[in-house]
Amino acid sequence: MFSAKIYKQRRTELKKKIEKGLILFLGNDESPMNYADNAYKFRQDSTFLYYFGIDEPNFAAIIDIDENKEMIFGNDFTIDEIVWMGPQKTVKQKAAKCGVNLTFKMNELENILKAALAKGRKIHFIPQYRHSNMIKLQILLGIDASRVNDYASQELIKAVAEQRAVKSKEELEEIEKAISIAYEMQVAAMKFAKAGMMEKEVAGFIEGIAISMGSGLSFPVIFSKHGETLHNHFYGNKLNNGDIVVNDSGAESLLHYASDITRTFPVSGKFTQMQKEIYEIVLLAQLTAIKSIKPGVSYKDIHLKASTVIADGLKALGLMKGDVKQAVKEGAHALFFPHGLGHLLGLDVHDLENFGESNFGYDNKIKRSSQFGLKSLRYAKALVPGIVITVEPGIYFIPQLIEKWEAEKKFTQFINYQKLQAYKNFGGIRIEDDVLVTETGSKVLGKPIPKFVDEVEEVSSSKI
Ligand code: GLY
Ligand code: MN
Repeated sequence: MFSAKIYKQRRTELKKKIEKGLILFLGNDESPMNYADNAYKFRQDSTFLYYFGIDEPNFAAIIDIDENKEMIFGNDFTIDEIVWMGPQKTVKQKAAKCGVNLTFKMNELENILKAALAKGRKIHFIPQYRHSNMIKLQILLGIDASRVNDYASQELIKAVAEQRAVKSKEELEEIEKAISIAYEMQVAAMKFAKAGMMEKEVAGFIEGIAISMGSGLSFPVIFSKHGETLHNHFYGNKLNNGDIVVNDSGAESLLHYASDITRTFPVSGKFTQMQKEIYEIVLLAQLTAIKSIKPGVSYKDIHLKASTVIADGLKALGLMKGDVKQAVKEGAHALFFPHGLGHLLGLDVHDLENFGESNFGYDNKIKRSSQFGLKSLRYAKALVPGIVITVEPGIYFIPQLIEKWEAEKKFTQFINYQKLQAYKNFGGIRIEDDVLVTETGSKVLGKPIPKFVDEVEEVSSSKI
């Protein structure tokens, strides 16, 4: 945990932004895998962690704005439970660590909320993503569980999202710790992967690094020679010399801040000429995007800039043709780059996504596009200092998409379908770093992870 002072400051900041009423925070409970005692790895709700830091199931909290009171709800463990779990701190002790003095048993939560409701007081809560917490809200507030999120407080969402988006010094240190784990995962994968191995051997190996160095993965590893499938969680392919592999993976620091890094490398340690040509385009798009990042510039513009570099490069190879600017405007390049340039990063790998992207990624000035590719951009609005955003362009050759567009004669003025035939088994390439928006520009966080062709070839040819 951070010091109690930090959690107190965060709550004080939040209280200034909410006019009146009570703020209800639900921590997460255990999620059973197949019966209650056999649960998935516990992950606390990130907003609960942000304001209270208690990294355990079965907690809730209230901030009473009108009475300026902060309360934590939880039950002390019984001796029967301690027999199975070992020594445990009391709720009071846990609450003191985040600077809260007022604690109650969990069954008091319902009484306090019902009393507030009876007086017509406003109860703010953020959108819920776990069904158990939706059911809890139905019980506590009398709202139909399936419609809970219709009643989430817009005032609270805005306040929390604004606060959590801008990272403090100690948060950046945590993110950098998470990136240093990702560094080890990336380099280890390059050195460990060999022809004849199954993808899962490498995926398992790097997951072990995340567990041994931090709090485990920040999302399920994407490790695949079929990098053209953007979020490929299948690890059943055998690696061969000549294959390139996309490794999109990250870890959580001990305090659950995330990293999210992608590298693409050749199993043999040497890219083919064809692979190198595409790789250099993706790298240039990424470097150009990183260089363009500064406060006030919209991330949509940077996405479009990266898209233009991609379309330019593909035109030079003869895979695209015609007017590049127009091709990007119409979305023809999305055949190769069908996702957004990046997303916020913090306590969650897609930070704040549970608040709904339109609540933090877009604003009155920039509305979400419906165009294929651009519609998947998660953060489009003007950048502000202190946010951390991923920069992750890619080029993919997705056979099903190419066949569909070709059959529809889509963008024939911009795409050379004939020449594309030779790339149908290419796979995909993505390169991703985690970037801080500074007062004057940007900073790639963490120790540099090999990404230039010679660096990647050097590391991936020195096998362990
Ligand atoms: N690293 C996976 C993603 O950004 O969606
Ligand atoms: Mn990402």
